[in-house]
Amino acid sequence: MKFSSPAHAERVTSRIGLALAVTFTLCFVTGLISHLIQHPPPWFGWPSRPVWLYRVTQGTHVLSGIASIPLLLAKLWSVYPKLFERPVIRSVAHALERLSILVLSAAAFFELVTGLFNIAQNYPWTFYFPQLHYAVAWVAIGSILVHIAVKLPKVRLTKEPDPSRRAFLRTTWLAAGVAVVATAGATVPLLRNVSGLSWRSGKGPQGLPVNRTAAAAGVLDTARDPNWRLSVVTPKGTKTYSLDELRALPQSSAELPIACVEGWSQSAHWSGVSLPELLRDAESAPGTPVRVISLDKGIYGSSDLPGEHTADELTLLALELNGEILDIDHGFPCRIIAPNRPGVLQTKWVTRLETL
Ligand code: HEM
Repeated sequence: MKFSSPAHAERVTSRIGLALAVTFTLCFVTGLISHLIQHPPPWFGWPSRPVWLYRVTQGTHVLSGIASIPLLLAKLWSVYPKLFERPVIRSVAHALERLSILVLSAAAFFELVTGLFNIAQNYPWTFYFPQLHYAVAWVAIGSILVHIAVKLPKVRLTKEPDPSRRAFLRTTWLAAGVAVVATAGATVPLLRNVSGLSWRSGKGPQGLPVNRTAAAAGVLDTARDPNWRLSVVTPKGTKTYSLDELRALPQSSAELPIACVEGWSQSAHWSGVSLPELLRDAESAPGTPVRVISLDKGIYGSSDLPGEHTADELTLLALELNGEILDIDHGFPCRIIAPNRPGVLQTKWVTRLETL
């Protein structure tokens, strides 16, 4: 069967392959950063400045993932005639190469499809997304490296494609560009009014989107309980604070983004007690790592704030958002908001801080 369309030319295939290698590498590296921040090994340190860094890395993660979708479809269209080549297997090496391409395609599809469903907050599966998405990411990047090693001799030989083939390439680049611009508004404020498909808008209580509501966390009553107290536990003992006592402490404010693991992010103005101030008041030292415990008993019901963040004056136990008392869905009575941290670690409905 003869496939003469310009799209099927080797030169076209390898160009799209190179673009995919770039977007997948970007995805992998930024995804790995998100993983390491959430599960830091002893050697790993993540800075508290610049305040916007995680916003950029995770935004890049999702946008490079989205750009990969039209690229992968164009790549598969470009190579599909190879599926009909006969004989199916010419040698052991050929069989292994075909197998590696199968693994690569399956892993790539899995990453893109699960990622897309995840940011749409649609989970038609029973597995824990971050874990499997993380594991398959290694399979995807590993099989990409094998594929490049096998194909490299051919890639180098490739000359500039002729005009008919350039048209297919241009269409592919355009599709990837449109996919990114149509969605980037969720993470790039400038594009907010341009991106018709951005998976998150600025809508939400106090002008900020909410992922987990107080109702979903089951804290509507406990968070509004007038007897609520914050406990700060240090080697010197436990100091408790009512909301009024927290408001009586010196207040700080900061313009900080909420940067979600789903890649959307938005800046807001926060006010409250800085962590260094609170630790000093509880006779502990700024820079001491702290475990933050929420009224929420869900999987993100506690987080560990490293010393880098507890020493930073911009790390707040926030009591107000955009000039108003914190909405219950944003974590009333108080929540953590720290510079350069994933949204899932900006713990809401805080009730206890323990120095580590
Ligand atoms: C449309 C494409 C993609 C989207 C929308 C997407 C989305 C996401 C999201 C929302 C997370 C955060 C998970 C969490 O912490 O709860 C994540 C994590 C991650 N992603 Fe993706 N992703 C995509 C493609 C990829 C690809 C192609 C790779 C690798 C080749 C990849 C590798 C990772 C890794 C390593 C993590 C860290 C998981 C962890 O924290 O344990 N992703 N991705």
